Amino acid sequence: ALSWCIHSTGYWRSFDRSGMELLSNAPVHHSVPERYVFPPDKRPTLLSDDHSPDVAFPVIDLHGGALPVSDHRRRHAAEEIIRAGKEFGFFQVVNHGVGECVVRGFREAAAGFFAMPAEEKLPYCSYDMSKRFRLATSTSYDRGETRYWRDYIKFRCYPASDENARHWPSKPSNFTPRLVEYSAAVHELAQTILCLIAEGLGLDGGFFTGDLSGGDTHMSINYYPPCPDPTLTMGLLAHCDRHLLTVLSQADVAGLQARHGERWLLVHPIPGAFVVNFGHQMEIVTNGVLASVEHRAVTNSAVARMSVATHVHPTDGCRIRPASEMVDEAMNPAKYREFAFSEFMEAYDAADASREEVLESFRINHE
Ligand code: OGA
Ligand code: NI
Repeated sequence: ALSWCIHSTGYWRSFDRSGMELLSNAPVHHSVPERYVFPPDKRPTLLSDDHSPDVAFPVIDLHGGALPVSDHRRRHAAEEIIRAGKEFGFFQVVNHGVGECVVRGFREAAAGFFAMPAEEKLPYCSYDMSKRFRLATSTSYDRGETRYWRDYIKFRCYPASDENARHWPSKPSNFTPRLVEYSAAVHELAQTILCLIAEGLGLDGGFFTGDLSGGDTHMSINYYPPCPDPTLTMGLLAHCDRHLLTVLSQADVAGLQARHGERWLLVHPIPGAFVVNFGHQMEIVTNGVLASVEHRAVTNSAVARMSVATHVHPTDGCRIRPASEMVDEAMNPAKYREFAFSEFMEAYDAADASREEVLESFRINHE
């Protein structure tokens, strides 16, 4: 029997006797319940309608990621990242130095988490965004009625301090050790990419080191079960990421789409690659040069899809402002005012992740 209860963000959700109605609790879904059906004008353009062989998000070879600054291949990778970043805001990296078995190992453990019986997952279920490890379904941002076809966990994945690690689940038993391995490797990759971005923009190589990327790294793991009718549902609402940089593993299942002009382009899965995109903080610090691009996920009927998104954050107190090197008082004045990162986090939650609304309160309007 369904009972209703109000949760911390003040809107209604249904819970059954086993707790939250997780999609991953059902062995299979034979039909799409009404509450997941979007109105016709909000339904997705599907993967099969992706008529975009003419454009694709760039794929960049990082040559193992550890090239000396003077190496021309490093300069080339930095230039490619900036070109891809300016034109698309989304790109993929291959030959990135994160071991295949590290990625596969952690993805297995994460899939094992969603596959656990409902009782094992119940203690983690929450829409309270202050919870350090939480499992939920749909999204915390959309206040509308229609649910998204997704379960997810969110938590702090790096550093592996006691403060962060004590919130991680004890089951499956390989989750924590494999997470530690994966997060350390992805942290190193993210730092390499940030150095390349800085070098490519003509900033000091260590520009992003320190407070700008020194907050606890957050992770979202999204689980999209096979959906009996993907034409009716959405996996994840269109949004921009709020922090500095995202490094995402989607393995070999398609579903991620990013905006390119007026179109939604598929980010074609390349097994072993990471998808990289910029958060709002990158857009602001670069004074609009590397923009945060809207993206979303669609569902498919064939296989479950799981994405592991690692979000590099500034420290809460970090002062964010356009870098002086990216600003020219006369020709290219600062587009954003200075603020503390924590202030942005609050504005983002209040604006339900809507890109223009959230940026508006930080924008400087030049006549
Ligand atoms: C995210 C995200 C996309 C995906 O977690 O921020 O955009 O492919 N995920 O699941
Ligand atoms: Ni995202």
